[in-house]
Amino acid sequence: MKKPAPIESLGEAQARREHARLGEEIGAHDARYYTEDAPTVSDADYDALRRRYEAIETAFPELATPESLTKKVGAAPSEKFMLIRHHVPMLSLGNIFDEEEVSEFVTRVRRFLGLGPEVPLDITAEPKIDGLSCSLLYIKGELAKAATRGDSLEGEEVTANVHTIGEIPKALAGAAPEILEVRGEVYMTHMDFAALNTRQTEAGRTLFANPRNAAAGSLRQLDPAITAGRPLHFFAYAWGEARFLPASTQMGMIAAFKDFGLPVNPLTVLCHSADCLIAHYRRIESMRARLGYDIDGVVYKVDSLALQNRLGFVSRSPRWAVAHKFPAEKAATVLRGIEINVGRTGALTPVARLDPVTVGGVVVSNATLHNEDEIARKDIRIGDTVTVQRAGDVIPQVLGPILERRPKDAAPYVFPQKCPVCGSAAVREIDPQTGTADVVRRCTGGLVCTAQMVERLKHFVSRNAFDIEGLGDKQIEQFFRDGLIKTPADIFALKARDARSLQKLKHREGFGETSVLNLFRAIEERRTIPLNRFIFALGIRHVGETNARRLARYFCSFEALRKTARAATEESEARAEINNIEGFGEVVAEAIADFFAEKHNEEVLDALTAHVTPLPMEAVASLSPVAGKTIVFTGSLERMTRDEAKAMAERLGAKVAASVSKKTDLVVAGPGAGSKLAKAAELGIEAMSEEDWLRLTGQEA
Ligand code: IVH
Repeated sequence: MKKPAPIESLGEAQARREHARLGEEIGAHDARYYTEDAPTVSDADYDALRRRYEAIETAFPELATPESLTKKVGAAPSEKFMLIRHHVPMLSLGNIFDEEEVSEFVTRVRRFLGLGPEVPLDITAEPKIDGLSCSLLYIKGELAKAATRGDSLEGEEVTANVHTIGEIPKALAGAAPEILEVRGEVYMTHMDFAALNTRQTEAGRTLFANPRNAAAGSLRQLDPAITAGRPLHFFAYAWGEARFLPASTQMGMIAAFKDFGLPVNPLTVLCHSADCLIAHYRRIESMRARLGYDIDGVVYKVDSLALQNRLGFVSRSPRWAVAHKFPAEKAATVLRGIEINVGRTGALTPVARLDPVTVGGVVVSNATLHNEDEIARKDIRIGDTVTVQRAGDVIPQVLGPILERRPKDAAPYVFPQKCPVCGSAAVREIDPQTGTADVVRRCTGGLVCTAQMVERLKHFVSRNAFDIEGLGDKQIEQFFRDGLIKTPADIFALKARDARSLQKLKHREGFGETSVLNLFRAIEERRTIPLNRFIFALGIRHVGETNARRLARYFCSFEALRKTARAATEESEARAEINNIEGFGEVVAEAIADFFAEKHNEEVLDALTAHVTPLPMEAVASLSPVAGKTIVFTGSLERMTRDEAKAMAERLGAKVAASVSKKTDLVVAGPGAGSKLAKAAELGIEAMSEEDWLRLTGQEA
């Protein structure tokens, strides 16, 4: 490695260039480390890069911008993709659920086309892949642009990411039309999904709920290096724009896609009757568990493209196609026990422990029993054989007992009246207005209850709160068990300099020196945090992200909030003030007052604020992702008036201009946007929807 020039000898321009280059390099290493769990440099090399980066910043303080890696605050970068307009909208399919409806579909099509019974009608049947749809625009046979479906009219540009999917050809083979927009599904296999979630756990990141979410999360990455590390696959099954079509039937198009080198699903067949469609549906359903990827039904499409054209669309779906969805899957198994989970707010949730059973290809051994009343209503008893259902990506649920198989000695279940973790009384609050008991029974132990403490800590570090890389649910549980972290402030005392915690951390499985140092760094990065995230992280009852933002906007500083909330005893002026905040009411005001009245919370907050600085709302402006940028709003905005949008942008430190020029950094386009959006595209200026703008500026989760 070439020896770097001494910092003192660097000129301003040189320093700027090296700082930017190092930033990119470190960012790429971080992505490989955190997301792929596959670092490509040694710890020492990584640290050397980081030290050099920091030393340059110390010598040239003007480089310490809000974007600097030393100042990363708050959420991961919002998703700010370029938008691509679909020339042919990406519509969805109508659904049917039972076999009778298959004949009805065929009859409907025949009637619409006026086909007599003697006229044959070909219809294809193929699996409905449970991934996310994607459009690939090939120009002169080369992959030019790729986009997600988005709102069907406009999708997010994901070209660079799609380039990392090995299965998608960069160039089509053979004589492809000059312009051809191929559409299909990006998906992840079961095996890759399981491996990715294992890596996510080890890296202390949130798990993906199912392969579809994992595929979507992997494709919609701002950094294509992350997508590259995620094994994604693709099936082509439809098309949008095309200079000419290489075939006149659906089957012919699929064959042409295959010849062009695109992956197509091998289970696509041609049928001539409803019976044939149903037979193929059953065949696919029977293979479902062995396919290795998720499907959620079978799609039937009229084969002739000429007939497809005549049939056209009804509102958002084609008249020439339909999705025959699989029913929710059920299985019977024995309920061995009922475990009570205690959540962050003390809620006691019953979870069924089951003899493992395969439900639609997935082994289920836990399922939700919802709540105390549900167990009583269905009279579910330990020892019962119960029906378990799994529908799509929702968590499996126990539907009810099979009474004929009930063991003689099975006794009605008695829901605990005490918290199973701390032994405090567990009660159902009575609504003072209606006099009815809450469906949820809660532990009254508050902060003496270790279950609540752990859940609060998990919430504190979660994605929309402090979002500390390397500190996920698994790590919180371990660290809590080992006595390293009991309260939020303890996280910030786990410093790199603290040799004891370093030693303790280093020796646990899967936690090497680099992980520890990265964790310390991630913690350091959160010593300043936007006020709304700080408030949300506290886990005050009824204060979710929206109410946290309302409080942050209203009080502007944590001290101001704390002062009023402390004084907010019943009937006080301070209580009335909180109550009057837009969107609040009695219940929220009381929960806030209660939280700040609790002595233990006061102590936690004192300790925490000694380590962490919640940034007052004005300060957030200078750290906002749009500070210093020039923004143009165009088209009609649906969620705010033009004046409101302008005021918000200015509050966040941006300038708002009326027309698009080379100086414009960002165009926010609502429906009906015309020439300004076109000009932005021409100049290569970033454009985004109103919704993405709200997300980017933290106005919406
Ligand atoms: S055809 C005009 N074929 O299902 C409709 N869609 O519910 C063209 N999907 O948005 C879509 N597998 O994301 C078609 N074999 C398949 C499919 C499929 C999955 C998805 C697609 C679409 C959604 C509609």
